[in-house]
Amino acid sequence: MKKSKLRIMSVVGARPNFMKIAPFAAAIEDLNGRQGPVSIEHRLVHTGQHYDADMSESFFKALGIPEPDVDLGIGSGSHAEQVGKTMIAFEGVVREWRPDWIVVVGDVNATCACSITAAKEHVKLAHIEAGLRSFDNRMPEEINRLVTDRLSNLLFTTDEIADANLANEGVPHDRIKRVGNVMIDTLEKHRHEAEALDVAEIVNGNAVQDLPHQKHGGENIADGPYATLTLHRPSNVDEPPVLGRLVDFFVDEVAAQMQLVWTLHPRTRKQLNVFGLWDRVASCPRLHLVEPLGYLELMRLNMSASVMLTDSGGLQEECCVLGTPCLTLRENTERPVTLREHGGLSELVGNDVDAISKAFAGIRGIPREPHRPALWDGHTAERIVETFVGLA
Ligand code: UD1
Repeated sequence: MKKSKLRIMSVVGARPNFMKIAPFAAAIEDLNGRQGPVSIEHRLVHTGQHYDADMSESFFKALGIPEPDVDLGIGSGSHAEQVGKTMIAFEGVVREWRPDWIVVVGDVNATCACSITAAKEHVKLAHIEAGLRSFDNRMPEEINRLVTDRLSNLLFTTDEIADANLANEGVPHDRIKRVGNVMIDTLEKHRHEAEALDVAEIVNGNAVQDLPHQKHGGENIADGPYATLTLHRPSNVDEPPVLGRLVDFFVDEVAAQMQLVWTLHPRTRKQLNVFGLWDRVASCPRLHLVEPLGYLELMRLNMSASVMLTDSGGLQEECCVLGTPCLTLRENTERPVTLREHGGLSELVGNDVDAISKAFAGIRGIPREPHRPALWDGHTAERIVETFVGLA
């Protein structure tokens, strides 16, 4: 039997990419282990957009992602700096290895930069998580999604709304493959490991050090219901009045009603300090400030939280499948399938505190109830790899 070998180079750059590439890399390993007529030679490139151990390396370990073959070490910078430096460095890597396909995931700057390079180097491009649209071009991620999808030869989508968005933009039907959600592959694979973790240990073990209330003994997280908070979007954390009002709401309203675990993104932590808000959050005894959490740790908190408050895209999806009522602190979402009007569990509340407060009062008592969109079944990466096998 004649064997054929596909050469695929995949790319990760920032934290939300890691959960998406892990099942794809594992599905390739499985395929190669079966010794069928098609095998895939896989090279993984890390652009290094996220580089702190707890934003990057810890995810590789927890999710069993193979060591990257190449680390471009791009680091922080303006958008133009990140995209430009990534393109320059990635071009050299592509020229050296000449893959048959470049596979990108999600919507971060690495996704966009490597897509442009792929197209300019005439290498076929596949996008995992294509077709998501917030219709808000002020979001850097929306620009990244539009550019990436426009240049992709193969677009793997999560749901029918994404398919319709692509069809409306004129993407030919035969390029679009609805396969489901790779993030949920990762969630299902690690659900039991996460379940075994202890909430109090996670919160205490990752507590930001040297806070006044810890010295005097804060409340124990195990004693009651809690909400979980993540915040990192420039629209929420880069303007002092906006972040100030949000902090007032978290301290005066949320923490007054239940304990609140806030897992701090580096950008947010920096801004709290710059805007003089740090002492206010640090001195609230029912507000637990924790370092960026690992994948399993955040999933464990999500599994028992009464409410999730977040501006993340991926967490809206994870809340949906885990059953956590979710307030999304954004004006729009590229993931409408997670919203209540589509049967999901998340509600868009923007960053207007009156609206958030009203929604919080309404959502607090809602029982946890999982919702699973079609094909979010833990087998998405297998379907993606089978698609490549069919093309070999
Ligand atoms: C990026 C993604 C966003 C994603 C988010 C998840 C883009 C356009 N945005 O935003 O879609 O939801 O990641 O985290 O790609 N920093 C560190 N250590 C790190 C990484 C960053 O301290 O390991 C600091 C940087 O110095 C910078 C800030 O965090 O000041 C923001 O990092 P950046 O990569 O620019 O974008 P994110 O806001 O994380």
